[in-house]
Amino acid sequence: MAAEANIGVVGMAVMGSNLARNLASREGNTVAIFNRSYEKTQTVLDAHPEAKFIPAKDYAEFAASLSKPRTAIIMVQAGKGTDAVIDALTEVFEPGDIIVDGGNALFGDTIRREKAVRETGINFVGAGISGGEEGALLGPSIMPGGSDESWVTLGPILKSIAAVAEGEPCVTHVGHDGAGHFVKMIHNGIEYADMQLIAEAYDLIRRGTGKTPTEISDIFTEWNKGELESYLIEITAEVLKQVDASTGAPLVDVILDQAGSKGTGVWTVQTALDLGIPVSGIAEAVFARSLSSKPAQRAAAAELPGPSSPAVGDVDAFIEDVRLALYASKVIAYSQGFDAIVAGAEQYNWNIQKGEIAKIWRGGCIIRARFLNRITEAYAENPGLVALVTAPFFVDVMASTQDAWRRVVSGAAQSGIPTPAFSSSLAYYDGLRADRLPAALVQGQRDFFGAHTYKRVDKDGTFHTLWSGDRTEIEATDTH
Ligand code: ATR
Repeated sequence: MAAEANIGVVGMAVMGSNLARNLASREGNTVAIFNRSYEKTQTVLDAHPEAKFIPAKDYAEFAASLSKPRTAIIMVQAGKGTDAVIDALTEVFEPGDIIVDGGNALFGDTIRREKAVRETGINFVGAGISGGEEGALLGPSIMPGGSDESWVTLGPILKSIAAVAEGEPCVTHVGHDGAGHFVKMIHNGIEYADMQLIAEAYDLIRRGTGKTPTEISDIFTEWNKGELESYLIEITAEVLKQVDASTGAPLVDVILDQAGSKGTGVWTVQTALDLGIPVSGIAEAVFARSLSSKPAQRAAAAELPGPSSPAVGDVDAFIEDVRLALYASKVIAYSQGFDAIVAGAEQYNWNIQKGEIAKIWRGGCIIRARFLNRITEAYAENPGLVALVTAPFFVDVMASTQDAWRRVVSGAAQSGIPTPAFSSSLAYYDGLRADRLPAALVQGQRDFFGAHTYKRVDKDGTFHTLWSGDRTEIEATDTH
């Protein structure tokens, strides 16, 4: 077989076949396709003759159909499936060839796989791909890691299929080995926070004002014309407008209120805990889904006492407050997400350009939003920004939103409406800006029961108070 394809895709399920069709639709690409069981390949061939795919029945035939350096994107079931395909491809590929994992791998697995594949001389690239089925077909946001060498070949191919935002393709070489999958994980974590914040805004308006889902849909449509303009606000308006065909009720009222998850939010929080980065907005979003999915506990607690919900006075003013609180909380969620990226980059030695990450999230992916331009600008102005929320633009946002944010959070607490993401974001904000934190007392407690020592504000050194003795302070060595 002549080697005529410049790119191949392994895995012809929904994501793989859509990505292959996207590749085939771009000028200059000829696409080889392979699936473990041939039926899926045949189905894709039959349905899309226009793509002029080059099908392969086995891995050897697939490798033979690819021009060098051979480049293949794996889109199979994450985990064992990915490992099986990598093993098979390394058998038939040669040094200099490129294997791309486009699945949702945990970045630690990508680091491991990259190291193992590199031994064979083959390049391994873990690439986060966001945008779901439609993104894969029409243009996703792509977050590739891997070597600089692989980016030379892969860059133009990925640029050809990525979403375009303001004239620029939504793909950049994020960093080496697992950097791409790491950033994709943080993207998903931010997505969790964003969705939870929007859900809390909906709940506040619904329970606070009694407005119907259709009316709230109109509010979100209006919000989508301003600073909050984003894909998630747009689809929220669509979901709230939907009427259930069988009951005539708003669809949101007949959907079981137990949120599922595929785990990437949990990965983000686990990773952030390991890195010591407070991603409280994301964590609360994950916990809110966990709480929703505990029907027995919720039923048992349904009669616990709560306040009588006072009606909101000025409805329009309240809705505007909720909008501002949502905006402020969203800034915090992104600021925390970027903190996690900075910490990950430091830990794993990745040279990640934060502004570029915000740029490639402007199109194709689930968190695409107008607001991301402001993040790019903030990092362009100051690449060493220590916390996104301290950039001048966001300081202004905080100045214009914080009063409303406080009213909403305190009102929600008084009314018994749960706003874990709004509230924890505000607490984080106040903690971050506090002159003194009660962490000093925690250090005192730690020294009391565990002789863990403390530092002083007025002199260098490490100190311990002899709590069980005469309570004098001694200078301690740093061994605790
Ligand atoms: P979807 O895109 O629908 O979410 P998925 O469940 O993530 O798909 O992955 C399904 C794909 O992984 C299929 O193409 C499957 O191949 P089969 O059609 O032969 O089942 C592929 N897959 C799963 N395990 C695999 C393995 N060990 N080796 C090769 N391909 C595998």
